[in-house]
Amino acid sequence: MSHLLRATGVIICAVGMSLSAQAQTAPPAGRLLASNCFQCHGTNGKGPGFDTLAGKSAAEIYKDLKEFQSGKEGNGIMAKHAMGYTDAQLLSLSSWLSTQP
Ligand code: HEC
Repeated sequence: MSHLLRATGVIICAVGMSLSAQAQTAPPAGRLLASNCFQCHGTNGKGPGFDTLAGKSAAEIYKDLKEFQSGKEGNGIMAKHAMGYTDAQLLSLSSWLSTQP
């Protein structure tokens, strides 16, 4: 598991570096972290898909994610996703999602 996480980190760094080399501006970290959510919640958190995330406050999204992470809420799909992130990463992606109209 830790190998996988480390490998993912290397890939994310490599992607970040190549993008910043090309476009001179790195993608917002929050969007990069949240892009994992687009498969189910729609691109940039806007449907079609499960519940729309765009338009919610950062505090609301973060609270939901912490509840999923604890395993006390949801049917298990979101728990697995929420567990993959640190608190700092959850805050970062929640605050980015909250900027989406
Ligand atoms: C494999 C599909 C899938 C992915 C990927 C996914 N989600 Fe979800 N999400 C769901 C489902 C299904 C629900 C409904 C809650 C439940 O019953 O567990 C949900 C519910 C939620 C809710 C609660 C919404 C509400 O209105 O109550 C939030 C917030 C949320 N997801 C955020 C995220 C974030 C942020 C990510 C990326 C880190 C993400 N999800 C990735 C499937 C997914």
